[in-house]
Amino acid sequence: MVTASAPGKVYLFGEHAVVYGEPAVPCAIERRAQVTASRRDSGLRVHAGDLTIDGFTVEYEGGASERPDVDIEDSLVEAGIGYVNEAIEQARDATDAPDAGFDVTVDSEIPLGAGLGSSAAVTVAAIDAATRELGVELSPEEIADRAYRVEHSVQDGQASRADTFCSAMGGAVRVEGDDCRTIEAPDLPFVIGYDGGAGDTGALVAGVRNLREEYEFAADTVEAIGDVVRRGEAALWAARDAGATGAKLTGAGGGGCIVALDDTPETTSALNYTPGCEDTFRAELDTEGVRPEE
Ligand code: PMV
Repeated sequence: MVTASAPGKVYLFGEHAVVYGEPAVPCAIERRAQVTASRRDSGLRVHAGDLTIDGFTVEYEGGASERPDVDIEDSLVEAGIGYVNEAIEQARDATDAPDAGFDVTVDSEIPLGAGLGSSAAVTVAAIDAATRELGVELSPEEIADRAYRVEHSVQDGQASRADTFCSAMGGAVRVEGDDCRTIEAPDLPFVIGYDGGAGDTGALVAGVRNLREEYEFAADTVEAIGDVVRRGEAALWAARDAGATGAKLTGAGGGGCIVALDDTPETTSALNYTPGCEDTFRAELDTEGVRPEE
């Protein structure tokens, strides 16, 4: 039995546009998904415990085709199951053990579909736990690449390498197409406000793709986001000396989280009094990516 964990993330800049080759800068946060993998004779059983810090809980135990009894959209549940299935396929492929069976247990502190990279964290941790269980230790870069293939497949080809690379490596990263690198970042006092909602990343990315193909303004917006990222990167270095403030949505949208930078208690208090904000929490930058757990 092996347990591995990997962090969620917030986007400082560049979600959506990153899918079309613009740069993005996501940062890992100290909210982790933990996955335990143990060998069984054949097949796959998945036990998912608390898949959110607040809001809904996903609990299911059964084969890949069984639907857990929870009151959230089918597409989200199917995606959740899909990530684990495909992660296990990647682990089988990486270890040359096509028939290896697994019991997998998922415990996550990251709200599902809320722009905090829950699926990437579960996928990254699952690949690490299952390959280690088979006696193979992959590099974080290889785990990131395999996790990207999982997201790409589950999200019908609508995924960038940003979430998966960030979750595997930890800290702040910069992703532009296939060019993925870790970057230095100052201390980032993230405050996150969660509206209790959840979006289907694949569907939201497909929606942006359609708009981009149909309307010139949407294509221009994607390019403009790229420019914001390039300017934001410069500001990130300046923030090291200055103490930065700002707030934005994080992730695909469609419900979920905003992220603000504030080292005073003021943003947290304001969010606590904002109607529709279900939970507010601090999440420090997590410099550690995927790691085995005791
Ligand atoms: O909402 P999340 O945490 O799944 O982030 C999605 C980020 C997108 O840029 C919209 C898609 C992607 O694969 O980069």
